[in-house]
Amino acid sequence: MAVDLLLGLQWGDEGKGKIVDVLTKNYDIIARFQGGPNAGHTLEFDGIKHVLHTIPSGIFHPEAINVVGNGVVIDPVIFKKELNNLDKFDIDYRKSLFISRKAHLILPTHRLLDAASEKAKGAKKIGSTLKGIGPTYMDKTGRNGIRIGDLDFSNWKEKYRALAEKHEAMVSFHKVDLDYDLEKLEVEFFEAVDFLINNLTFVDSEELLGNAQKEKKKILAEGAQGSLLDIDFGTYPFVTSSNTTAAGACTGLGIAPNNIKDVFGIFKAYTTRVGSGPFPTELFDKVGERIAKVGHEFGATTGRARRCGWLDLVALKYAVQVNGVTQLMMMKGDVLSGIDTLKVCTAYKYRGELIDHLPYSLDDAHIETQYMDLEGWAEDITGCTAFEDLPIQMKDYITFIENYLEIPVLLVSVGPDRKQTIFRSTE
Ligand code: GDP
Ligand code: IMO
Ligand code: MG
Repeated sequence: MAVDLLLGLQWGDEGKGKIVDVLTKNYDIIARFQGGPNAGHTLEFDGIKHVLHTIPSGIFHPEAINVVGNGVVIDPVIFKKELNNLDKFDIDYRKSLFISRKAHLILPTHRLLDAASEKAKGAKKIGSTLKGIGPTYMDKTGRNGIRIGDLDFSNWKEKYRALAEKHEAMVSFHKVDLDYDLEKLEVEFFEAVDFLINNLTFVDSEELLGNAQKEKKKILAEGAQGSLLDIDFGTYPFVTSSNTTAAGACTGLGIAPNNIKDVFGIFKAYTTRVGSGPFPTELFDKVGERIAKVGHEFGATTGRARRCGWLDLVALKYAVQVNGVTQLMMMKGDVLSGIDTLKVCTAYKYRGELIDHLPYSLDDAHIETQYMDLEGWAEDITGCTAFEDLPIQMKDYITFIENYLEIPVLLVSVGPDRKQTIFRSTE
């Protein structure tokens, strides 16, 4: 059976967690393929809000298997906290959650390195979540990392010590003031590692997923971050350190490209970004403030305010192309209710020339945005349950997007709750 992918098309926080949770009933397995606790995926149902960082968003469905793939980086301390949060919801994760032996571990010193590197960069900082993501992927590609599978062997602590010492030397190289107590961090780390060893099932996840495909099981691969944060295709260097795009699901899970069927591309009806880096359609006015307020645009992981702006169709088209998106899902259209005129960016003027593709540099100095004005809608749509019930202006907004991107919008989300989800038939 083929594998479907679900991934974000913008700078993250598109609503991936919500939709994976909504779709899980149609799948046997949900598998996270990259990123780590830099992600914050929010799910809401029965009046409760859950935020997941490393655990796949299918975890609340007892009949689904959840896999943390080899492409993910795991911080044992955060993972343990996430698991403890599940206890009160009676989730038997010992049966339903499997961790790849090839997933890399985030060490306390990776976090310190992240902090030191960002501090040293000063105003040029990436705006990292400071979860140690960059340094951990650096050790992975530098062939120095420690993997979950190493925990089954007695010598892993020697490997740890050597690596931690090297990291401390690297921290001091940055020559920044960093207050930390490594011994204290290590106590917490080793405790959490023991917890993971005793409570989780480590697997060769590529094998598990390969066998599941042979048995015709349905698999949904869950992405983290967004396409514009991809290490290759994002707004480098203001990106994360993994491939967030469709190809990342192949390497992050061991799934062959010809076994991928649908690619669900999620986008917000506007655009947000947390951290530094170019954002051509960013708003600095009352409309931007209003979107941030109504949309509760604060990071699920760091609590930082998200920058808000108009929908950028040029960037979205690029993401659709790089990922091979087959279906679009539009989130948070309800947040735009009450704005008279909505602008959507349809072209850039790049170094004086009008273009409709994403150029090498998105820096303000090189880009001018060109907008189309579309009529907004006044109605509160958070109670709508059918596409036909949406205001005509919103339907026109969606049609405009579909025509530009040449891909259908088959799901419209009108609020954070599981139930506030409208499916459109393909006929
Ligand atoms: P993710 O990282 O892609 O899973 O997204 P986040 O959870 O970081 O951010 C999405 C936020 O928007 C969360 O607070 C969700 O509860 C919320 N959300 C999701 N869909 C909708 C929607 O259609 N309307 C509104 N108003 N909120 C939504
Ligand atoms: P989800 O899965 C939004 C951003 C950070 C920073 C840059 C690099 O919830 O959509 P990192 O910690 O990876 O070194 O940070 O990437 N970033 C995210 N922004 N949503 C995320 O994940 C993000 N994960 C990382 O803010 O700009
Ligand atoms: Mg998020």
